[in-house]
Amino acid sequence: MSKFKDIKKVTVNQIKNMKHKEKIVSLTAYDYTSAKIVDEAGVDIILVGDSLGMVVAGYENTLSVTLEQIILHCQYVKRAVKRGFLVADIPFGYFQVSIEDGVKNCIRVIKETGFEAVKLEGGSEIAPLVERLVSAGVNVMGHIGLMPQMVNTMGGYKIQGRTNQDKLMEDALALEKAGVFSIVLEGVVEGVAKKITEKLTVPTIGIGAGRYCDGQILVFHDLLGLYDDITPKFAKRYCNGREVFLNAVNNYVRETKESIFPEEKHAFLE
Ligand code: KIV
Repeated sequence: MSKFKDIKKVTVNQIKNMKHKEKIVSLTAYDYTSAKIVDEAGVDIILVGDSLGMVVAGYENTLSVTLEQIILHCQYVKRAVKRGFLVADIPFGYFQVSIEDGVKNCIRVIKETGFEAVKLEGGSEIAPLVERLVSAGVNVMGHIGLMPQMVNTMGGYKIQGRTNQDKLMEDALALEKAGVFSIVLEGVVEGVAKKITEKLTVPTIGIGAGRYCDGQILVFHDLLGLYDDITPKFAKRYCNGREVFLNAVNNYVRETKESIFPEEKHAFLE
């Protein structure tokens, strides 16, 4: 019998049906302990994002994240999650070479992690790949606007939609036609994100895309105020986790140096 017997998993159909009815809450997670918290809080979509390259591995950007890293962190998260719909981010270099290569890598992730969907950064240029994946039985989440995997060609992290709103709309429609079940809109001006959200039949999930998307996504470490190398305006901090943790570790250091910790109650007396 499953250890998760009374809890129902969120399904792809539920996510699609939430449009116009209920906001979709998404958050990243990268390990067992954090994923347990995220799932218990009722997050609908849990993403193992390639942002792990920055907030977990300490890389400068997401470009060097490997498929093996994503698979490993998905396996950690999978063991914790009873309810949330699980999406694995496919890192740079694993779906750009050819459709065959992309299909093979995405199927490998699904097989080795037990996740329910993959996320791919890219617009109309990846629509043929999305179509092949969907017809092979893989749920795909799109990701357009500010695409961190394009940091080199974009010349930095630039807010999108000021000059290219027609292209963004075309990309969103091409991905919808190819069969994505939802699309992340990252770093898109609010009015453009609103227009795309109104035009699409699949839900949009915003990050730095304003108030009118069908759902929101944040990075776990940003929400908790744990990561301070980059602090984007859109990432609301719900606590100052870094200060809380630093305080606790400082207290441990001080108490140990001063022989305050451990006390008798922490010792095995016989
Ligand atoms: O990698 C990531 O965490 C993401 C989300 C911010 C959408 O792509």
